[in-house]
Amino acid sequence: MRMIDLIEKKRDGQSLTEEEIRFLIKGYTEGDIPDYQMASFLMAVYFQGMSPEETAQLTMEMVKSGEQIDLSTIKGIKVDKHSTGGVGDTTTLVLAPLVAAVGVPVAKMSGRGLGHTGGTIDKLESIPGFHVEVDNKEFIRLVNENRIAVIGQSGNLTPADKKLYALRDVTGTVNSIPLIASSVMSKKIASGSDAIVLDVKLGAGAFMKNIDDARRLAEEMVEIGKRVGRKVMAVISDMSQPLGYAVGNALEVKEAIDTLKGEGPADLKELCLTLGSHMICLAGKAQTPAEARNMLEEVIESGKALEKFKQFLRAQGGDDSCADHPEKLLTAGYVMEVEAKEDGIVSAITANQIGTAAMMLGAGRATKESEIDLAVGLVLNKKIGDPVKKGESLVTIYSNRESVSDVTGKIYNAFTISREPVQVPVLVYDVIT
Ligand code: URA
Ligand code: CA
Repeated sequence: MRMIDLIEKKRDGQSLTEEEIRFLIKGYTEGDIPDYQMASFLMAVYFQGMSPEETAQLTMEMVKSGEQIDLSTIKGIKVDKHSTGGVGDTTTLVLAPLVAAVGVPVAKMSGRGLGHTGGTIDKLESIPGFHVEVDNKEFIRLVNENRIAVIGQSGNLTPADKKLYALRDVTGTVNSIPLIASSVMSKKIASGSDAIVLDVKLGAGAFMKNIDDARRLAEEMVEIGKRVGRKVMAVISDMSQPLGYAVGNALEVKEAIDTLKGEGPADLKELCLTLGSHMICLAGKAQTPAEARNMLEEVIESGKALEKFKQFLRAQGGDDSCADHPEKLLTAGYVMEVEAKEDGIVSAITANQIGTAAMMLGAGRATKESEIDLAVGLVLNKKIGDPVKKGESLVTIYSNRESVSDVTGKIYNAFTISREPVQVPVLVYDVIT
């Protein structure tokens, strides 16, 4: 088989066979196919797309390129959740203990973040003592004992995706629906869960900028699940403004704790209840999302969700007193307010600009090598639809440097204040099964 023939085949809009896709992924992972040929192939996919068969086969070849986690010794149906990425997305920190408190096993492998803020793993590391370096045996023991563990992603999961993603990143081929769908699903399938709830983000802070694309991505991922025998469903949720108030690692941990106590931001709580109720249904613990939702609300009200969070922290070496004393989390040296310059109603808070502002403070990584400052970030004091008076605080900045005029400028750019009444964006656009 020759790579040039596969490039031409895809360029001309034809479908590749299973053997051809295997040749492609194996050859690229092992270094036999050079970057320039793979780059050309990816661009052909960008324009020509892939059939559902091809996308599922590509996914499974990427899964087979590395380690596959075997969770079969964990009792019950293991459910994972994945977000396609947003700004200030604190849901995993809330959902993992929330769902575990209802008795659904959560065996989660998470990544470190690149971009706006850290990933779930970085966020958890702002808790004193908490560690994510847990071997597979201990990981399974923790989930069997406590119903919950969140650990760092194994270094050898889907090496084909790591290599392809790095190439896509520098060749203008990230934003292809079959490539995103196979990339996300390969990692989820290799991490071993039986069922997966996907949170497809839509809006300025997300890969998908319009509802049609978001639906197509969701449908393609659900279809991959059907073809490879995993239960998959997707929720399409809003990322036109950041989720919740906090954007930054320790700040988001505090926000997650508030939410587990039933005191967090309304949108974060609502999205967690939506995603969590689907996770519980897929795990077979409830018949309907409404029944599952009641179970989740009950564990928040009874304090069981917070108790589960504390147990989870203790089991991985973390100081669980943080849950009652959030001031024990890392705190920044300087706290400053960004004040509104006029009266009106907030009509837009562009999520990616807020994300960039948080990254400029040091909350995220500009490159894989960047050091992250877990203490810094932003807290929104206003969301879309809120009335605001001149001089009121729009955002509180938590910084470890004194001069933040660059960040303040970004924040003013992100906010639009209107004199007209404002339509608040819906939180959940659609559910795809
Ligand atoms: N997230 C992924 O894991 N892969 C993509 O291709 C895009 C977003
Ligand atoms: Ca948040």
